[in-house]
Amino acid sequence: MLIMKEYQNLLFTVEDGIGTLTINRPKSLNALNSDTLAEIGEALAEIKTDPTVKVLVITGSGQKAFVAGADISQMVSMNSIEAAALSELAHNAFRTIESLPQITIAAVNGYCLGGGFELANSCDIRVAATSAKFGQPEVGLGIVPGFGGTQRLTRLVGRGKAKEIIATGSQITAKEAHAIGAVEEVVELDQLMDKVNEIAHKIMKNGPVAVRMAKYVIDQGADLELNTAISFETQMWAQTFATKDQTEGMQAFLEKRHAKFTGE
Ligand code: CAA
Repeated sequence: MLIMKEYQNLLFTVEDGIGTLTINRPKSLNALNSDTLAEIGEALAEIKTDPTVKVLVITGSGQKAFVAGADISQMVSMNSIEAAALSELAHNAFRTIESLPQITIAAVNGYCLGGGFELANSCDIRVAATSAKFGQPEVGLGIVPGFGGTQRLTRLVGRGKAKEIIATGSQITAKEAHAIGAVEEVVELDQLMDKVNEIAHKIMKNGPVAVRMAKYVIDQGADLELNTAISFETQMWAQTFATKDQTEGMQAFLEKRHAKFTGE
């Protein structure tokens, strides 16, 4: 069953447990203006508690762009106070993506620049079309990345590569992005959604509580000192032994059958 919700600048569908949020401003190459960011925030608030959405895919409308950045036509006349408000709106939306219980997959179908790269980097997994181009072109506009680019890209690829990408403002190909760890999978554009669906279905076969907890412990642990992080992992690991999914998963293995997880 396909459920569809239409926003002004977004499309949202749910099919077979996969929610797909499409940034839908193709005439501006899906550039993120404040209305779109606010709508992303609204959509995520619903998705967060929607039991029909097991995995969330974020993509861009059309074949040319995922998201070509923040909307330059809106930013051109902004003062510092307005710029700070826009950045905060994006940070709130992107932090919400990271805090979703569902695994999120960015399906990068084309230009993934500035705020677009920052959006993709807020997702758990990035799958890109070979035709996609990545970059942080902000310094060419006289600004620094403001939707997390200086921080999340650095955490993904290391300081040197992040500085090279940000200071040159150059675009890199999907294959180059893959080689530096900014993208997990690269496929031809016509296979992009098949690949994303394949990954989503593999995820959905597993114990839902365990998948949710794995995302949480990876993200929380990343900001902790190693001893604290591994003891946090022990706590989370122990908690999974109090779930029905653990009993079912292990019994199914021993009985040589597929597990029927209930997410409890
Ligand atoms: N904001 C607003 N409009 C944009 C846009 C953006 N980021 N990117 C593209 N568009 C618009 C263009 O103005 C154009 O509109 P018109 O048809 O009305 O002229 C339309 O989308 C198509 O774009 P182009 O004609 O430029 O297409 P192209 O194929 O020649 O080039 C491109 C494609 C290389 C992606 C080019 O559009 C481009 O360089 N876009 C801007 C990329 C950019 O600088 N992004 C960073 C923005 S700043 C930012 O994101 C800050 C941050 O940290 C959050």
